Amino acid sequence: MNYFSRLLPFLRPYLIHMIFASLLIAGVAILNLMLLKLAGTLWDLVAVQRDVTRMTQTMTLFLSLAVLQSMMAMGQSYLTTQLSQRIIADFRTHLFRHVQTLSLSFFAKRRTGEILSRLMNDVGVIQKLATETPIDSAKQIVTLVGGITFLLVMNWKLCLLIVSLIPALVLVARLFGKRLQTLSVHIQDHTASLSTLIEEVVSGIRVVKSFVQTDREDRRFGAALQTLVDDTLRRATIMSIFVPTITLLTFAMAGIVFWYGGAQVINGAMTPGDLFAFVLFAGILIGPFGSIARVVSQMKEGQGALQRVFELIDTTPEVTDSPNACAMDTMQGAIQFSHVSFAYEPQRPVLADLSFEVHPGEMVAIVGPTGSGKSTIVNLLHRFYDPVEGRVTIDKQDLREVQMASLYRQIAFVPQETVLFGDTILENIRYGREDASEQEVIAASQAANAHDFIAGLPDGYATLVGEKGVNFSGGQRQRLAIARAILKNPRILILDEATSSLDSESERLVQQALQRLMAGRTTVVIAHRLTTIQEADRIVVLNKGSIVAEGTHTTLMQQDGLYRHLYTLLMAELETETPAPPPTDG
Ligand SMILES: Nc1ncnc2c1ncn2[C@@H]1O[C@H](COP(=O)(O)OP(=O)(O)OP(=O)(O)O)[C@@H](O)[C@H]1O
Ligand SMILES: [Mg+2]
Repeated sequence: MNYFSRLLPFLRPYLIHMIFASLLIAGVAILNLMLLKLAGTLWDLVAVQRDVTRMTQTMTLFLSLAVLQSMMAMGQSYLTTQLSQRIIADFRTHLFRHVQTLSLSFFAKRRTGEILSRLMNDVGVIQKLATETPIDSAKQIVTLVGGITFLLVMNWKLCLLIVSLIPALVLVARLFGKRLQTLSVHIQDHTASLSTLIEEVVSGIRVVKSFVQTDREDRRFGAALQTLVDDTLRRATIMSIFVPTITLLTFAMAGIVFWYGGAQVINGAMTPGDLFAFVLFAGILIGPFGSIARVVSQMKEGQGALQRVFELIDTTPEVTDSPNACAMDTMQGAIQFSHVSFAYEPQRPVLADLSFEVHPGEMVAIVGPTGSGKSTIVNLLHRFYDPVEGRVTIDKQDLREVQMASLYRQIAFVPQETVLFGDTILENIRYGREDASEQEVIAASQAANAHDFIAGLPDGYATLVGEKGVNFSGGQRQRLAIARAILKNPRILILDEATSSLDSESERLVQQALQRLMAGRTTVVIAHRLTTIQEADRIVVLNKGSIVAEGTHTTLMQQDGLYRHLYTLLMAELETETPAPPPTDG
């Protein structure tokens, strides 16, 4: 509920600036009131006293105050914009940093668009709420309090008449507020799902096009957009009744002031200038009353956004360094899974009582049907998740007892799909080790059979990934990933081999690069290639979360088990594939 107070820590560093800005806001509002009072005095000097000298003096004061007021307003506007940008930049940075610490289980459950929307849309709403709303409110409160004080001093009866109308306004505002809140939450949810939809279609555009589903996506987008439009229109309808109702009430107030005040002027109980100032005051009190509506709707909208953002902040990573975790020494690379059980969701076990070992320098291939838990083993070995039961150790140290950064520095994970970031090729390879020199990057690329094609790019290593006209084939991407891993020089290598087959020349280059990468390291590979399987020191055969066989290719082939079956299938698959066309050009 009290999400608003949780924003305070983000405002604290700017406390002095905020106090200064508030003083300026109050100053502007007070000067505004004084100018109105002076206008009343001027009126009397012109219409009643007919005193040119005093009128000129008062006019000079009036203009000087007006100049002062606009200067203060300029300063305040600049200061508050700067403040609001800085505060929200801090907030976004905090959120982004936090999101990066979250565990894989968090990302597995959420769509990218949803996270994106929280960081961008919701934070945008909060920015309004944390800066515009309080500034606006402060200005209105000063106007309200100052205005009422002036009015009380000038004519308390007339003033009480105006103030007695306030409860009616508050009641109306409350009546509409509830409905506006629900609608605002819906509108933000619809906006978020719309962003998600766009993100999905853009990132999956190949699939959409190839399945000729653009019409279906148009319909899906149209439907999502329609609900958003419907709710926005509903809110607009309510607002269109709400705002005029408030305005009507305030005009009624002005009418009463004129009627009652006019009678007093006629009776001689009040000067015309005072009535003039009085009506002006009553007029600017419309501002604060009108803005009650705006502030209410902003607060409601903001509450939804705050709730979603703080939900994200309150999500804690499941996998973290334990308080007494120690840094891992240079590792030998001995891996052991002992009696490991694991489930992503409590009722659905994925791995059951799994035990196996990988000796330093050994290359172990994991094979098994789809869904058997191969990627899950890799996830546990990389400590993306912790086992539910049992232990995963490296050099006899439980992974839960070492600092993750010290572990990750010594292992490299090459996923099925190579992820390239929007930076230069050089920096992309350097992702494996930030302090590597250019020579080291080139050496790693050469070992990964990637140097030649990189050198052939328009800007060589300085080529930007994602730039127009720069696109990499599957084999090239794999070699970039291998170069990245070679540069990192890990003790343990985790490979999830790409399933898409390459043409034979590309396959040869990748295979050669992989051999150079694996040499002398402990390697665990989810194998899809025949060559990898045949060359493995040992093969672990997995089925439904359990190890059903273990051995070398030769020994496993002699048994009539799952391995021989899988191997035969893989062979048959390769034979049916169309052979790569013979090279025609030089
Ligand atoms: N994030 C997740 N949340 C819930 N269940 C999951 C998650 N990831 C995988 N699973 C389930 O765990 C089981 C094992 O999945 P895993 O990805 O380890 O299989 P795999 O052997 O790598 O299969 P493939 O060869 O298709 O990659 C599957 O039943 C899968 O549905
Ligand atoms: Mg997998």
